[in-house]
Amino acid sequence: RQRTLAILKPDCVRKGLIGEVLRRIQDAGFTVKAMKMTRLTKQTAGGFYAVHKERPFFDELTDFMSSGPCVPVVLEKENAIEDFRALIGATNPAEAAEGTVRKEFADSVGENIVHGSDSVENGKIEAAYFFAESELVANES
Ligand code: GTP
Ligand code: MG
Repeated sequence: RQRTLAILKPDCVRKGLIGEVLRRIQDAGFTVKAMKMTRLTKQTAGGFYAVHKERPFFDELTDFMSSGPCVPVVLEKENAIEDFRALIGATNPAEAAEGTVRKEFADSVGENIVHGSDSVENGKIEAAYFFAESELVANES
């Protein structure tokens, strides 16, 4: 089974949607393998989103991601990467399909409720950004 790293972003936490979003994730067949609440700093948010550092929205993105606590979660499922991105919908909620998490709950392209890894390889790197190897291995089935 594949793994993906999701983050319930600060807007998700502020809106009281942790349970609601996790419910949808679990109903879609994902198993939670690791989870915590943490707060990124502007610097650690910048490290996580380093691939976007030349983009015009980088400053706004790192301000937002460090604006409050977030909930990183390691999820497991067959085809987890692709299926999770289908579940959350397009980056911009205005373009997200009906029934997706972002369509339902997100306010804008910047504040879009949830992150999902875009490849198996990045999923491993991103999971290691938040969780110690022991926390990841301990919950293997
Ligand atoms: P993630 O799962 O968060 O990586 O989103 P994504 O893969 O759907 O989008 P992408 O990796 O291209 O962008 C990363 C994040 O940057 C997005 O989730 C948004 O929060 C933010 N972002 C992307 N485009 C814009 C933009 O035009 N304006 C702002 N403010 N934020 C943006
Ligand atoms: Mg992305």
